[in-house]
Amino acid sequence: MAAATSETDFPLSPPDFGSDFAWGVASAAYQVEGAFDVEDKGPSIWDTFTLRRGATFHGHHGQVACDFYNRYREDLRLMQSMNLAHFRYSIAWSRVMPDGMGAVSIKGLDFYDRLLDACLEREITPWITLYHWDLPQVLQDKGGWKNRDIVGWFGDYAALCARRFGDRVKHWMVLNEPMVFTGAGYFLGVHAPGEKGLKNFLPAAHHAVLCQAAGGRVLKSECHQSLIGTTFSCSHISPYTSDEKDRIAATRADALLNRMFLEPALGMGYPTESLGLLKRMEPFIQANDMSEAKFEFDFIGLQNYTREVVTHSCFVPYLRAKIVKAPKRKVPITLMDWEVYPRGMYNMIKQFSAYRGVHKIIISENGAAFTDELQEGRVHDPRRMAYLQEYLKEVHRAIKEGAPVHGYFVWTFTDNFEWAEGYYPRFGLVYTDFPTQRRIVKSSGHWYAGFIGKRPEGS
Ligand code: FCB
Repeated sequence: MAAATSETDFPLSPPDFGSDFAWGVASAAYQVEGAFDVEDKGPSIWDTFTLRRGATFHGHHGQVACDFYNRYREDLRLMQSMNLAHFRYSIAWSRVMPDGMGAVSIKGLDFYDRLLDACLEREITPWITLYHWDLPQVLQDKGGWKNRDIVGWFGDYAALCARRFGDRVKHWMVLNEPMVFTGAGYFLGVHAPGEKGLKNFLPAAHHAVLCQAAGGRVLKSECHQSLIGTTFSCSHISPYTSDEKDRIAATRADALLNRMFLEPALGMGYPTESLGLLKRMEPFIQANDMSEAKFEFDFIGLQNYTREVVTHSCFVPYLRAKIVKAPKRKVPITLMDWEVYPRGMYNMIKQFSAYRGVHKIIISENGAAFTDELQEGRVHDPRRMAYLQEYLKEVHRAIKEGAPVHGYFVWTFTDNFEWAEGYYPRFGLVYTDFPTQRRIVKSSGHWYAGFIGKRPEGS
C-alpha cells in the first residue's frame, strides 16, 4: 500500500463520485444488537454456535455485543453528527419470528419500527438486509439452509418485513454474502451452524440461490417503489504464477468465489463450465429452479476487502486449487491476514459491471481491521484511513470509466462482534470500549465524516 495519505492530501471529494451517491456505514444484527434473549426473541444459529467450545476466539459471543438494541438512539445521534446519511443494518429473523415461521413477535417488530423511525427522524436513510447470517435455530433443527422448505420459510419472513416496514424502507438487500454463509457455515464448519462437507454445502448453496430470487420477488411485489438488491462477497483472483495450471486453477476459484451466486440471479445458471464441481449440484435442482433463480435486481451489493492468489493443487479435492495466504506472500496485510490490495476493488467493479444484467452497483461493504489503541481518550488509526482512501480512489477510477457505482458503505460503524474472530479484530470507524460501551470516534471516523461533509467549492 502507498504510504499513509494524510487527511489533506486526499484529492477527491464526494461530488467526484456523482451527485446521488450514497455514503454510509454498514452493520449486521448479530454483530451489534446484543439483547439476545429479551422478550420473546428465539435463539439464532449464532447464539447456539458461539456456545460451542472452541468455535470462536476465546469463546466470544454476541449476547451483548455493542448493546445496539438499547443504545441505537445514541449511535444514530453519533452517526448524524458524523454526516452519515445512509445506514445499512439487518433484521434478526429470530427477533421478529421467534419460531422462524408462523407466529410473529410484536415486541421484535416494534424494536425495528422504533429503529427505523429513529433513522428517519435523523434523516438517515435505512438500507435493510433481510438475512445477515442469523438463522433461527428452530429452522436449523429442521436442516436449515439444506432443507428446501427454506424457500417458503424465507418467503414468509420476507413478506412480513416488507409489509411491516415497506412504507418507510426504500432500499432492501435480500441476502448478505451467500458464498460466505454457505461456505463457512456448511462446508468448512467455521461459522454457524458449523457443518462440513460438500453434501451440506451444495444443497445449502442451491437453496440460498433460490431464496435470493424468491426474496427479491416478494420485496418487489410488496414494495413497488423500493430498490431491491442483494449482496455478494467478491475477491479478485490472481494466479500465483503464469503457469497454465495456476491460471486454470484461478478460473475455478473465480467461478466459486465470485460467480456462483450472482450468475444464477442473472439467468445464466451456475458456472459449471469453469467449475465442474458444480455439476454435483444437479440432484438438488428441480425442474423450474434455474428460471426461478433469476431475478432482476435493481442493484448489486458488492463487498470487497482483499484479493486471493491461487495455485493449482492436486491435494484439494474437487477444486484442485488452493489459496496462497497473504502473510506467506509478504504483502501488506490487515489484522485478518487479508492482503491490502486496492486495485482488486477496481477489478471487481469492472468484472461485475461487465454483466449485462447488472444495472447498478453499491459497494455495500469495504473496510479493514487493524490494531487500534485507545490512548488518552483517542484512537489514531492512520492505516485504516489510508486503506479507505486507497480503495476509494479505485472506486472513483472505475466510475470515471463508466461503471455504475452509486454508493459506498464502510464496514463498519462501531467495532463489533466479528464472527469466529470474536471481538479481536476491530473494523469500526468508531472504537467500542466494550466494558463501558463508550464510543470513541477514531481518526479514520473523523476523516470520513469530514470527507462526506465536504461541500463543492463555492456552494
Ligand atoms: C463480511 C461480513 C461482515 C463482516 C465483514 C468483515 O464478510 O458480511 O458481516 O464480518 O466481512
